Amino acid sequence: MSLWTNVKGTKVFSYREEKKDEIITEVAGIFRSGGVVALPTETVYGLGAVVLHRHAVNRIFTVKGRPLDNPMIVHLGDVSQVDSLVEYLPPELHILAEHFWPGPLSLILRRKKEITSLVSGGLSTIALRIPHHFIALHLLRELAMPVAAPSANISGKPSPTEAAHVIEDFAGKIDAILDGGKCPIGVESTVLDLTGDAPVLLRPGSISREELENCLKRPVIVPERQSNLNKAKSPGMKYRHYAPEAHLILFKGDPVVVEKNMKYYYGKYLKEGKKIGILCTWEKKEAFPKASLELLGRQGDLKEAAVSLYGALRNLDGRGVDIILAEGFREEGLGAALMNRLEKAADDVIEN
Ligand code: TXA
Ligand code: MG
Repeated sequence: MSLWTNVKGTKVFSYREEKKDEIITEVAGIFRSGGVVALPTETVYGLGAVVLHRHAVNRIFTVKGRPLDNPMIVHLGDVSQVDSLVEYLPPELHILAEHFWPGPLSLILRRKKEITSLVSGGLSTIALRIPHHFIALHLLRELAMPVAAPSANISGKPSPTEAAHVIEDFAGKIDAILDGGKCPIGVESTVLDLTGDAPVLLRPGSISREELENCLKRPVIVPERQSNLNKAKSPGMKYRHYAPEAHLILFKGDPVVVEKNMKYYYGKYLKEGKKIGILCTWEKKEAFPKASLELLGRQGDLKEAAVSLYGALRNLDGRGVDIILAEGFREEGLGAALMNRLEKAADDVIEN
């Protein structure tokens, strides 16, 4: 039996424990020969290429429709690989790597000049992370070469948390997809900049600011919301992200007022004959009987909300809704990461 099935010319491998060594060897071979391959990580699927293969890295920008100034995260299998990529190793790197790697933390460091600036979008820095997903880690260790891998979605669309999402965006456009099932976290890694005097949180993720501060025993700076988008420190901050096709309205603030406001807009759009999608926690489902519902777990279960968020946005688009009314989360811990993604995906934010 073949290890893969052909979907429009893309090899789709279904990871199976009993075939793991053969599958990893075969997929590593595609990477080594300059292929572009989607792989599962604990956060979201990544669209990967070996950093040394400039042509393959270029293809990632092209197939994603990603602006060339938006740098990619470089994935490693082992911390010993950091030295060859980075100019200076700040003391925080050792502390954080010891504590959080492998895991969903990307660290921005000064790049060695000889490393291609293509992955860094022309910046003098580089983002590094060692993922802890067992398939990604096995593959990266087998390859023993750094792999550039942005999220495996068309630029601007919701990130992929299962292979079906990657197939939807890239079947026929990339060499292979390694299907490892659903991603257990569901939102992208925390991005922390270690190139300045103090660590700066460029993107919230499942490792929270509080956890980072406890580990480093010093404050972590959170930049003000960018008013001048062109001055964004992380180039990814200035583009629209994670966005469904439908018009998304995010409701935030006091939960009681949020529910009242969501019901008001639900009634208004229903009267206008709009097809409405609702993104809410399980407890609110009775309030919107005629809407297309996507439930993000029970109230307070932020892990479940993170796991289901991107799939829910894609599902609502699949059902052709015109408007999505989304319930906000408290901006603490993982809630900060969820709100960061929802605010970027939103066309309007209604705050009470
Ligand atoms: O969880 C994740 O990080 C996933 C998985 C696949 O590992 N990857 C991911 O990559 O989310 P991407 O490209 O979708 O997001 C990377 C973010 C972007 O906002 C980018 O601008 C920022 O990290 N970034 C990358 N390199 C940077 C650098 N040198 N300086 C500042 N920001 C950087
Ligand atoms: Mg992305």
